[in-house]
Amino acid sequence: MTASHSSAISVRALDKSFGEGDARIHVLKQTAFEARQGEMMFLVGPSGCGKTTLLSIVAGTLQGDGGDIEVLGHPLSRLSRAAVTAFRAQHIGFIFQQFNLISTLTVADNVSVPLLIQGVPAREALRRAEETLERVGIREKAGQLPGRLSGGQQQRVAIARALVHRPPLIICDEPTASLDRENGLKVMTLLRDVARDAHRCVVVVTHDPRTYPFADRMSEMEDGRVFRVLQSPEEIRRQHTETL
Ligand SMILES: Nc1ncnc2c1ncn2[C@@H]1O[C@H](COP(=O)(O)OP(=O)(O)O)[C@@H](O)[C@H]1O
Ligand SMILES: [Mg+2]
Repeated sequence: MTASHSSAISVRALDKSFGEGDARIHVLKQTAFEARQGEMMFLVGPSGCGKTTLLSIVAGTLQGDGGDIEVLGHPLSRLSRAAVTAFRAQHIGFIFQQFNLISTLTVADNVSVPLLIQGVPAREALRRAEETLERVGIREKAGQLPGRLSGGQQQRVAIARALVHRPPLIICDEPTASLDRENGLKVMTLLRDVARDAHRCVVVVTHDPRTYPFADRMSEMEDGRVFRVLQSPEEIRRQHTETL
C-alpha cells in the first residue's frame, strides 16, 4: 500500500436518528464512507440526504448512534468527548458556505484563531497567519475587517483559517455555494493544491457540478446512504457528462 492510499476517514455501518417517537427521523442508515490522504473526495447528493450530518459525525461535533468511525487512525467513536474536541482542534480544518468569519476581528486575527486555541503565542500565531494569507493570495488584506472584503476574498480568508494549523484533514461544506464562477474555481484550485502538494485529505460536500472536475473520487449519497463511489476523474466524467 502506498502512502497516497493511506486512509484518512473510515466510516462503517453508521446510523443516526434525530427526534423521538413519531417525530423520529432516521437520517443515516448503515452508511459507509471512506477518504484517503492526498485526495479530493467529493460527497454529493440531494439536499437533506444526510451529507452534513455524516461529516459532523466525522468531525466529532455530533455523535452517531452506532457504527465505527476512524479518523486519521484514531477510533473517534471510542474516544471521550474531551479527547474528540482536542483531536478536532489539532487535526481538522473546516470551510463552510457562509465563511463564518468573526466580523469584529481583522483578517489576520481571524486566521490566527486556530493557533491561539492550541496555545501558540500571539506573535508567532500572527506571523503564521500572515504566511498563510500570502499562500492564498490575500496577504494585503491582513489588517482589514472581513466585512470590507468580497465573498471570494472572504472565502480565501476562511481557507487560510482552515489551513493555518496544518491539519491533515480539511472538511468543506458547500464551499463555493456563495461564490460566482470565477471565485468558485479559484477556491477549488487552492483546495486541490492543498490535497496534492501537502498530501492532505480534502473532503468537499457540493451541489455545484462546476466543481466536479476537481474531484479525484466521488461518493454519491441518497436517503442516508452512500450508494456508489466513483473511483477516478474519468469515471466521474462518464457518469456526470450531462451536468458538466
Ligand atoms: N439537529 C437536527 N435535528 C433534527 N433534524 C435534523 C438535524 N440535523 C439535520 N436534520 C435532518 O436530517 C436530514 C439530513 O440533513 P443534512 O445532513 O443537513 O442533509 P444535507 O447536508 O445532505 O442537505 C434532514 O432531513 C434534516 O432536516
Ligand atoms: Mg448540508
